[in-house]
Amino acid sequence: MTNLKGKNFLKLLDYSTDEIRYLLDLSKDFKNKKKNNIDHKYLNGKNIVLLFEKTSTRTRCAFEVAGYDLGMGVTYLDPGSSQMGKKESIEDTAKVLGRMYDGIEYRGFDQEIVENLGRNAGVPVWNGLTNEFHPTQMLADLLTIEENLGHLKGLKLVFCGDGRNNVANSLMVACAKMGINFTLASPKELWPSKELYDICKDIAVENNSVIEFEEDIMIATKNADVLYTDVWVSMGEPDEVWATRINLLKKYQITSDIVANANSNVIFLHCLPSFHDLNTTIGKDIYNKFGLKEMEVTDEVFLSDKSKVFDEAENRMHTIKAVMYATLSDKNE
Ligand code: CP
Ligand code: NVA
Repeated sequence: MTNLKGKNFLKLLDYSTDEIRYLLDLSKDFKNKKKNNIDHKYLNGKNIVLLFEKTSTRTRCAFEVAGYDLGMGVTYLDPGSSQMGKKESIEDTAKVLGRMYDGIEYRGFDQEIVENLGRNAGVPVWNGLTNEFHPTQMLADLLTIEENLGHLKGLKLVFCGDGRNNVANSLMVACAKMGINFTLASPKELWPSKELYDICKDIAVENNSVIEFEEDIMIATKNADVLYTDVWVSMGEPDEVWATRINLLKKYQITSDIVANANSNVIFLHCLPSFHDLNTTIGKDIYNKFGLKEMEVTDEVFLSDKSKVFDEAENRMHTIKAVMYATLSDKNE
């Protein structure tokens, strides 16, 4: 019996393999209900607040739509519009919001902020991305992999890019928990912390999978079932890092040669947003400064039939709905 009522969702390290499995199955059920227009306002009368200190398209919209579909009231606080941090401590903010709302989503900076909210709110707190982790993204990724490849255990997922960012850290945890073999293709300078690696390595052993770091992208991506990448510079990092980051990561772009090197049924995933063309202001700016037309993935791969990035984006909503329902409802068992 799985009962997650009242539990925070701050990082996947806090969840067991069975609990993650439960959330994925619940997500499938909610996706099916949504597709078939079956009403699921199971949390009628509850209210949630979405606290964003960084910008967002998918996470904000996923929480809002999922909240409305479940019958809840939703308040969005945009970057800079609450007192939190500037005039009011994290603890006080958590206590105030916990008196008014049934659940709190936070996107922002240090993981410690969301952990602090979680310790003090008295209601479930959900991590919508911190510098260290992006756990709701992981549920959408796992669901998309399972939908496309039929299972998770024993697959090989290769992340190409900044191996210390929130998405790479979280993928290493998610893969270890679900028995997926995780390979990082990245220069040594961008490998994850030894502390997180040691934790994940032990979890992976329990689930019969391995975690490997490899500097040679061709060796890393051989026989991959899932190719995954993310932006080379994450939100909150200063503009000055672009030059060194491009130098470090330009060899790790996902191209059609990399796709050809992987398994024939490989899928391509990206948490999005992505710099795969020149249709963004940052993309144009980088092109003017460094001459790159595409960054972490080529437009060809991004638009190919291997690419499941928009299914993945849609799955953010179904999986976030499952997390809110599981942690707020009396009925989840
Ligand atoms: N993948 C993701 O978190 O997207 P947003 O930044 O648009 O929320
Ligand atoms: N690593 C990226 C993920 C965005 C969803 C960032 O933090 O900007």
